[in-house]
Amino acid sequence: MQKLTDERIKALQLVLPEARRDELMSAHTSMKIGGPARLYLIVSTRADLLNAIEAAKSHKISFYVFGGGSNMLVSDDGYEGIMLQFADRSYKIDGTSIRAAGGALTGVVARAAAEAGLTGFEWGAGIPGTIGGATYGNSGSFGWEMKDAVANVEALKISTNAIINYSNAECRFGYRDSRFKRDPHVILSTTLELRTGDREGALKKVAEIMEKRKASQPQGYFSAGCLFKNFEYEDESALEKLQTQVEEIPEAMLKQKRISAGWLIDLLGLKGTKIGNAQISPIHGNFLVNLGNARAQDAMALSSLVKMKIRDELGIMLEDEVQLVGW
Ligand code: EPU
Repeated sequence: MQKLTDERIKALQLVLPEARRDELMSAHTSMKIGGPARLYLIVSTRADLLNAIEAAKSHKISFYVFGGGSNMLVSDDGYEGIMLQFADRSYKIDGTSIRAAGGALTGVVARAAAEAGLTGFEWGAGIPGTIGGATYGNSGSFGWEMKDAVANVEALKISTNAIINYSNAECRFGYRDSRFKRDPHVILSTTLELRTGDREGALKKVAEIMEKRKASQPQGYFSAGCLFKNFEYEDESALEKLQTQVEEIPEAMLKQKRISAGWLIDLLGLKGTKIGNAQISPIHGNFLVNLGNARAQDAMALSSLVKMKIRDELGIMLEDEVQLVGW
């Protein structure tokens, strides 16, 4: 990416005076990794977000909109453009639907839904980051995904500058995938459609989900959740090499035609592997944890090492789930 000159940075700062210079992304990502964003601005309303995007576009400066920073690996060189953190945390419950701004915190919305006696989004309580991020990546856990709860999504299409309301089908949700990953958009708000349940039952479910996460995923570490997508396959020939290495593939994975990346990493004994201060969690193979001041370069080298080993030894190519920024 071309270096931004001081002149161009200052020109954009004139129209966005609150934008900070050389803000370390390690302060804003759950991994606590990442070099400086040349410019950094927190936008708390939708109008401020649209205004900042417009300004970046007219100055021909790259921009990147992020929510919670919980699924990002930013390079040590940082980002040569303006980072916009969408921090409109608002949401509104109306009957069984909830309209949440892209910057609303997923966990907060999920708890509020349960408090209001709505059911169908309890699983969201343990999902880090924002509703915009969760919609973008069709986040999920324990068998549910955003696509099960989304009624529609309002997003700014970058190429045409149009604000479009997409129905659930138009979002083209797939496993950790949506149209927004392929056709650049900024998610402004998501409306969820839930069902009437009972408050006690919903809150109990929230508590159970949090317990389940605690039992299987590392807690209290700096990480970005799952590093890789689980491996999806069409026909079993994709598993030929894996089958020579393992006695039995768990039934649940075969049924879903999706092999857990964490399980594969565990199978090769890679849990605990370290490069610098980046480590494959000893608790869950698909979590990369920062043990303290890890460099992005180390995290990337570790991720590549895991990918190569899985490819060479098991014949499976893992895909990143974490968003790579500034590489
Ligand atoms: N397993 C191991 N060793 C490991 C990790 C997992 O043997 O190191 C086994 C588990 O014992 C279990 C199976 O693999 O039998 C599946 O593990 P788990 O239930 O942890 O689910 P996962 O497939 O590894 C997925 C999502 C998670 C989500 C959990 C729970 C992906 C990439 N990951 O993980 O989502 O929280 O299910 O529903 O789809 C994320 O997307 O960032 C994420 C963390």
